[in-house]
Amino acid sequence: MSPSGRPWSLSLLFLLEMASEGINCPSRCSCQYLEVNCTGQQLQEFPVDIPLDTRQLILAANNVSYLPAVELSFLADLVYLDCRKNLLGDDLDFTFIGVAKLVYLDLSFNNLTQVTFSTFSHLLSLVVLKISDNPNLVAIEKDAFANNTWLRHLDVSRTGLTFLDTSTIRDLPNLRLLGLSDNLWHCNCSFLDFVTWMMESDVHFPDADNITCYTPAGLRALRMPAAEAQLHFSCLTRLYKQDYVFLCLVGFCIFLAGTMAAWLAGICAVIYEAHASKGEEEEEEED
Ligand SMILES: *[C@@H]1O[C@H](CO)[C@@H](O)[C@H](O)[C@H]1NC(C)=O
Ligand SMILES: *[C@@H]1O[C@H](CO)[C@@H](O)[C@H](O)[C@H]1NC(C)=O
Ligand SMILES: *[C@@H]1O[C@H](CO)[C@@H](O)[C@H](O)[C@H]1NC(C)=O
Ligand SMILES: *[C@@H]1O[C@H](CO)[C@@H](O)[C@H](O)[C@H]1NC(C)=O
Ligand SMILES: *[C@@H]1O[C@H](CO)[C@@H](O)[C@H](O)[C@H]1NC(C)=O
Ligand SMILES: *[C@@H]1O[C@H](CO)[C@@H](O)[C@H](O)[C@H]1NC(C)=O
Repeated sequence: MSPSGRPWSLSLLFLLEMASEGINCPSRCSCQYLEVNCTGQQLQEFPVDIPLDTRQLILAANNVSYLPAVELSFLADLVYLDCRKNLLGDDLDFTFIGVAKLVYLDLSFNNLTQVTFSTFSHLLSLVVLKISDNPNLVAIEKDAFANNTWLRHLDVSRTGLTFLDTSTIRDLPNLRLLGLSDNLWHCNCSFLDFVTWMMESDVHFPDADNITCYTPAGLRALRMPAAEAQLHFSCLTRLYKQDYVFLCLVGFCIFLAGTMAAWLAGICAVIYEAHASKGEEEEEEED
């Protein structure tokens, strides 16, 4: 073996390694076939040097608390983004503005607090959205998914949600699966509309046994079909009660009007009589 053989083969090995791992794979991540996988690396921040042609980015089980919209937008071909089990916080509005091709987005097991129209409105191709297991997620705006018309699989299980407006999901033409279980649903008369939609839609609700009312106390732990019957009954009888009040009011008004009319008629009669008798007296005086 020549003395220069060893370093030469070493550098060749190094070159080969570089080629196989990609030229700029982020540290602590593995890269192959347009996929970057950084699972479970205790990353605090979004990794730098992600290859720009990446299609699939997996950041699962890290400590990332912020997704930079600009850096994300460099990955214009991204179709699959898995950020489950991180520390992503409340303000995700306009974060996904540059990744319009995204089809799969997993944000479960994070710390989201709300979803507005601006959160996902640029993801026109989104098919799967997982935002389950975000215990501080308390509000989803009515039109939050208005632009996600391809949405097929939506999971909002195990969050802090108490209410979901029917219009939020009713108009999604491709929805097939909707996770709603283990939320603290507030079953008031506004919720009846949602439950009625659930009964009539052909969407699949996984873990349906755990879709239950939490408040009011009288309906606690009641599952959705049973809750529908209860709500239907109590909300409709309340309507009847309102009707009774209304009818009583109308009756009272009619009664009052009648009394007033009789009273006015009485006064008129008295005045007329007094006037007539005065006239007679005057006539008598003239005689
Ligand atoms: C990503 O890497 C983790 C472990 O490093 C592995 O368990 C997981 O299957 C990988 N994911 C994909 C989609 O390759
Ligand atoms: C990441 O978060 C976990 C749980 O919140 C914590 O136990 C761990 O110390 C964090 N790691 C780093 C490197 O911050
Ligand atoms: C989650 O968000 C809430 C409200 O924004 C904040 O108070 C809390 O510290 C966050 N939790 C974690 C683990 O980051
Ligand atoms: C919502 O979708 C419409 C039509 O597809 C599009 O014109 C509009 O720009 C989208 N809104 C946002 C905020 O991306
Ligand atoms: C039902 O509860 C939701 C959420 O708490 C609330 O926004 C809504 O106004 C309530 N509707 C009625 C009729 O009380
Ligand atoms: C359903 O709820 C019960 C009681 O809260 C819980 O023990 C069970 O693990 C839940 N099932 C699933 C699949 O989450």
